[in-house]
Amino acid sequence: MNLIDGKKVAADIRNELKEKISKLKAEEKNVPGLVAIIVGDDPASHIYVSSKGKACEEIGMRTKTEKLPADITEDKLLELIKSYNENKDFHGILVQLPLPKHINEDKVIETISSKKDVDGFHPISVGNLVIGKDTFASCTPAGIQELLIRYKIETKGKHVVVVGRSNIVGKPITNIMLQKAEGANSIVTIVHSAAKDISYYTKQADILIAAIGKPEMIKADMVKDGVVVVDVGINRIDDPSKPKGYRIVGDVDFENVSKKASYITPVPGGVGPMTIAMLLSNTFKAYNLYGEK
Ligand code: GUN
Repeated sequence: MNLIDGKKVAADIRNELKEKISKLKAEEKNVPGLVAIIVGDDPASHIYVSSKGKACEEIGMRTKTEKLPADITEDKLLELIKSYNENKDFHGILVQLPLPKHINEDKVIETISSKKDVDGFHPISVGNLVIGKDTFASCTPAGIQELLIRYKIETKGKHVVVVGRSNIVGKPITNIMLQKAEGANSIVTIVHSAAKDISYYTKQADILIAAIGKPEMIKADMVKDGVVVVDVGINRIDDPSKPKGYRIVGDVDFENVSKKASYITPVPGGVGPMTIAMLLSNTFKAYNLYGEK
């Protein structure tokens, strides 16, 4: 079994970007910038956003966090987004989700310029992904593909089985793996909660991507020998033996599935760290494609 070290790959990507940004600075060019907009005071969201900001700073990217009160009106939020659509210093705009109930998330996502849509959530980005045009793919799925590429895992003609059909992971990774491209060109099945017997599908996987949100749901008898396992789950389960009283597990029963797998991502330290790395990479791409240098 080979462990896929997402922490290391994410660090490599961040270092590569850092070098590119140092070069831009040495040439006295504008540098890429990412603005994160956060509404309300959900502690988990603040932790995410501050780690995104830190990651930007570490590689020399311009970064700003707009912290807005939970009762901000939808109109005010949309106005702020529009002002960043015009701002030449910020090439990526990220609005942290979820948003308070009185704000229409779809409207917010659609207001972000598709040229700054580094989350890849805008319908234009999603549509371009489906028809195979170069676009911003959402960060977690893009990170999964990057891991497969950097570990030189053959994907062409392989059967990828995706468990879960979310808009953030299941659907975009399905479309990514379908592309006629490096790290893709796969035969893809997507399976979800309506399946009578999920294991009927998962047993056929050469590459299994688990994005369900159910702790350790994928068991060893649900996969074949030699499978490549990508575990996207981040689930908290009670564990009184830990100082915090809980531990984080994936959607895969790592201890037993890893015995059958040729490659497997751990949780934590697998797919998780790739999300921010790809966000930085998408921001750099937005700068390259549309930024004033
Ligand atoms: N909330 C949880 N994950 C994400 C993410 O990747 N992007 C945004 N915008 N919000 C999130």
